[in-house]
Formats: sequence, C-alpha cells, structure tokens
Amino acid sequence: MQTVWWLWPLVALCSGDQFRGEAEKIMRATPVIDGHNDLPWQLLTMFNNQLQEKAADLTSLAQTHTNIPKLRAGFVGAQFWSAYTPCDTQNKDAVRRILEQIDVIHRMCHMYPETFVCVTNSTGIRQAFQEGRVASLIGVEGGHSIDSSLGVLRALYHLGMRYLTLTHSCNTPWADNWLVDTGEDQAQSQGLSEFGQNQTGSLVMVNFYNDYVSCQQQATLSQVADHLDHIKKVAGAGAVGFGGDYDGVSRLPSGLEDVSKYPDLVAELLRRRWTEAEVRGALADNLLRVFEAVEQVSDHAGTPEEVPIPLGELQGSCRTTYGYSEAPSFHPPPGALLASLSTILLGLCLL
Ligand SMILES: *[C@@H]1O[C@H](CO)[C@@H](O)[C@H](O)[C@H]1NC(C)=O
Ligand SMILES: *[C@@H]1O[C@H](CO)[C@@H](O)[C@H](O)[C@H]1NC(C)=O
Repeated sequence: MQTVWWLWPLVALCSGDQFRGEAEKIMRATPVIDGHNDLPWQLLTMFNNQLQEKAADLTSLAQTHTNIPKLRAGFVGAQFWSAYTPCDTQNKDAVRRILEQIDVIHRMCHMYPETFVCVTNSTGIRQAFQEGRVASLIGVEGGHSIDSSLGVLRALYHLGMRYLTLTHSCNTPWADNWLVDTGEDQAQSQGLSEFGQNQTGSLVMVNFYNDYVSCQQQATLSQVADHLDHIKKVAGAGAVGFGGDYDGVSRLPSGLEDVSKYPDLVAELLRRRWTEAEVRGALADNLLRVFEAVEQVSDHAGTPEEVPIPLGELQGSCRTTYGYSEAPSFHPPPGALLASLSTILLGLCLL
C-alpha cells in the first residue's frame, strides 16, 4: 500500500509526539541506566543457564521482556543485572545459587561482546556509553544471599557485585522485609535503623511492577510517571531513577511492556515539564553521582573491620531445585581439561 510518507512526521507533531522525538534525542547522549533486571533468573528457569542453547539466543529470544533488539530500541546504556535466589534458599544453598547467577552474567557478557561489556565502576559505565555497548553490572537481590557472612559479601564484591539489596521477601538478621508492612510477616528490626536513616543523598530506582505501582493487577505508564513525580516532589529530582524489574515480574504497566519502552516514559516526563537536566538525572546522572560518591569512600577505606552479624537458626543443609536439572550438563571452560589433566599428572608424579 502506498503511504504518504511526509504525512507521518506531521501527524506525530500534531499528536504531541514531539516529546518522543525529544526523548530519543536526549537518550542518544544519555541512555538509561536501569537498576534492576532479572533476565539472569529467566536464563536459569528457561535454559538452566545453558547460554549456548539455540533457543537461548539473546538476539532472538522472544518470550522475555528483555533481548538485545529491545535493549537497543529502549536506549539502555547500562544495566544492573540481578543475581537473585528466592528466600527459600536462605540457610540452604543461597550462596551457591548466587555464585551461579553471577557466573551466568559474566558468561552473557563474554558471549555477546559487541552488545555487553561487564564493568564494575562509573568510569566503565561512561566508557560503555561512548562505545555504544550496554554496561553490565551485578546487583545481588536479597540480603539472605550472603548467609550472614561479611566474608561472602566481600567475595561477591570481588566477583563484580556492586549492590546488595537489604532484603527480598524475608527478614534477615539485620533488616525487616516489605511483608512486615502488609502484616504478612513479623517485625524484627522495626524498619530502618538510625544508621539506615542517615544514608542520605542517594536515589530511588522505581520498580514498574503493576502491583507496586497501582496496588492492582493493572497499571499504566502514566501511573509510573506519578511515582516519579512524587519522589521528585518529596526528595528532589536528584533522587529519581529507574529500576524496572523487567523479567522479574509477571505484570507490567500498559505502555511499558518491555525494555524497549523507556523512551515513552521519558517522553511522558517531558510532557510533564521535567527539564532536560532532570530527565538526564533520572536516566543516568543521579546513579553516576551516587556511584562516584560510593567509589570515593571505598577508595579511601582501610581494611574492612570484622563485624559479626547475629546468625539466624541454621536449618540443616539442603539444596533447592530451581532450573530443571540437578545434574546440569557439564561444559568445562576452555583450559579446564588441560588443568585437570595436569592435576592428574601432578598426582601421578606425587605417587
Ligand atoms: C574501573 O574498572 C576497570 C575494569 O573494568 C579498571 O580497569 C579500572 O582501573 C577501574 N577504574 C577505576 C577508576 O577504578
Ligand atoms: C546519624 O547522624 C547523626 C547526625 O549527623 C549522628 O549524630 C549519629 O551518630 C548518626 N548515627 C549513626 C548510627 O550513624
């Protein structure tokens, strides 16, 4: 069918879509840094973390909110990928599970080097912006993942983790979870401690899950913008960020169905008269400000002190069964065979 091509920009202009054009212009220079994406959890449950499976190809994966074309269309410039393990792994195999999810994130970066680059600092994010790659960072979802061990926490840092959420849906020995607020769980720490309340100057990366946005199963892009407006009102535009929770939730607002839709949300903020600087803040600058401040502290920190965390009851060791195989097919990393051969050889020499 023949279309009158020159009509469309005119229609777009008249229907108010100049905001969408403006959003794309801003995002070409300042792409979005999203704080929370659970694609690694999908890789576990759908493919048992076997990235080389044909169906797991991230250029064509269709059942997820996230794939490479959608990330490109959404101007995603950096992503904190969630290393997540559910609360029923607490006091069981949580640490092993988290290590496996961190491993799959690293392998994803190595498998698609033209798209992803694993980075661990703000310099790395800025560099990835320049290269047009998606800076990939690791956030560990749920304090239960460290088994109340600061040694595990430090080791995860060395593996690239750059944030740990305090809780998921279970209390930890040092913080209460959100179910305490709904009455579904018992309070233990009475919310944020004084130390917690003193952590100012940070940002809130808004989750898009319908039930959190509207307290109902349905929600809209406009309601997400209401949340962003509210945080801006109470804490300032410097406190706003996005943490969509794509591939970690079952319901997303109409207009924000997958990671390609961020520009539409930005267009909505522009329509609500957010300034370009405020929008850039929400996209990336606020996170970079906080990240750089954290780096300042960590660069000047001495040897970490050994602080004991009161341990919860340990309920015996057993394994959970996420993914679909207790005995995943074994693909040794390159060099591993050689290493095991030399171990055998060394063993022989010692005999
Ligand atoms: C940032 O991380 C990279 C590795 O990804 C490292 O080479 C570089 O030294 C780090 N930069 C700073 C300022 O820490
Ligand atoms: C919180 O901040 C106040 C005021 O700066 C300070 O006096 C207090 O010691 C801080 N509390 C903690 C637990 O860090």
